[in-house]
Amino acid sequence: MQEDTEQEDAGTDTVSRIAEHTAASPAADASSPTAIPVAIVGATGYAGQELVRLLARHPRAEIRAALGSASMEAPRTLPALARLWDGEVTPYAPEKVDGVAAAFLALPEASAAETAPALIAKGIRVIDLSGAFRLRDAAARARWYPQTTALPDATVYGLAEKNRQVFGDARLISCPGCYPTAALIALQPLASLDLLDGDVTIDAKSGLSGAGKTPSERTHFSENHGSVAAYGLFSHRHGAEIEQELQRPVTFVPHLVPLDRGILETIYVRVKPGVTNDTLTRLFADAYAASPFVRVTGERLPEIKHVAHTNFCDVGWRLEPGGTRLVLVAVLDNLVKGAAGQAVQNFNVAFGLDERAGLL
Ligand SMILES: NC(=O)c1ccc[n+]([C@@H]2O[C@H](COP(=O)([O-])OP(=O)(O)OC[C@H]3O[C@@H](n4cnc5c(N)ncnc54)[C@H](OP(=O)(O)O)[C@@H]3O)[C@@H](O)[C@H]2O)c1
Repeated sequence: MQEDTEQEDAGTDTVSRIAEHTAASPAADASSPTAIPVAIVGATGYAGQELVRLLARHPRAEIRAALGSASMEAPRTLPALARLWDGEVTPYAPEKVDGVAAAFLALPEASAAETAPALIAKGIRVIDLSGAFRLRDAAARARWYPQTTALPDATVYGLAEKNRQVFGDARLISCPGCYPTAALIALQPLASLDLLDGDVTIDAKSGLSGAGKTPSERTHFSENHGSVAAYGLFSHRHGAEIEQELQRPVTFVPHLVPLDRGILETIYVRVKPGVTNDTLTRLFADAYAASPFVRVTGERLPEIKHVAHTNFCDVGWRLEPGGTRLVLVAVLDNLVKGAAGQAVQNFNVAFGLDERAGLL
């Protein structure tokens, strides 16, 4: 993994590492400016509209189709995006994606499970924001995503900060969930070097847009405003996803907070004896030296406002003085780094573009 291979480069300047990484990618070659035709399926949803906003100004992508559900009654514009993108969202039909190189799916899981294989069969590379293809174990998938009968060939779990090197050959990039993205970015540098000791507890708080645009009693303004509620204890599928990637049990407790967007996770762990603040500083600097969207804040604990509307994930921590208790804090915008921004980042990597294109 990336953080393994880069351990010996401690102290290398982060900016130059990112620049090297970028220059090494075919993407940085400005002599091939051909537009890459893309489709967005689910463009009327929260994540889909964010995709339209990002891709409309992407230097190399061209939105050929923005599609809602097949049951949409009429084409519609997206008023919030006027002058950024003045196209129409039309009802989904399979032929409308013909000729695109990549399709972004921002659909409910069941629709994504049905739609993705058909697009792949047409030779289209799929970047899926749903959970439908995230779990590799068939039994776990049957429990959490029963509509997904199988993983298509060349499906990869799309956390660029962990495995960007395998995106080039992927036919389906399954983007991580919003909660797992923050948790894994915070924990994987420690997990990959076997520095975690004992239980991992993730106390996660999310704004309401994480639940999508369809209102429910839980997300109703009068229920949520002025309140904070825990939900999904031992029954949230993002727990299974985090455990899959970390290869260890976690206690994952999500909460809804009265914000429109943003996630903050407070993560309680113990580290192996001998891990110091300097160890952590070096470890995180190395792990993310070539990751333009991870900002390691060290002992300055990050806040949701610092990342809202950006593709950044900020990670900070406090280590018990002289002890082994470590509290990590990770924040991101669930609709950007937790969904659409991460999907565009993955598209950039998969198509050999500058990882930052359209995002920074
Ligand atoms: N919200 C987040 O923070 C977030 C973060 C990470 C991942 N995700 C994932 O991204 C996906 C989209 O989430 P969202 O929050 O954007 O949901 P959303 O706001 O509810 O939007 C869902 C979109 O899917 C379309 N759709 C619904 N049923 C469909 C069907 N049967 N066939 C085709 N299209 C259909 C809707 O179109 P109509 O408007 O025409 O109904 C809409 O465009 C979900 O899988 C979610 O788990 C979301």
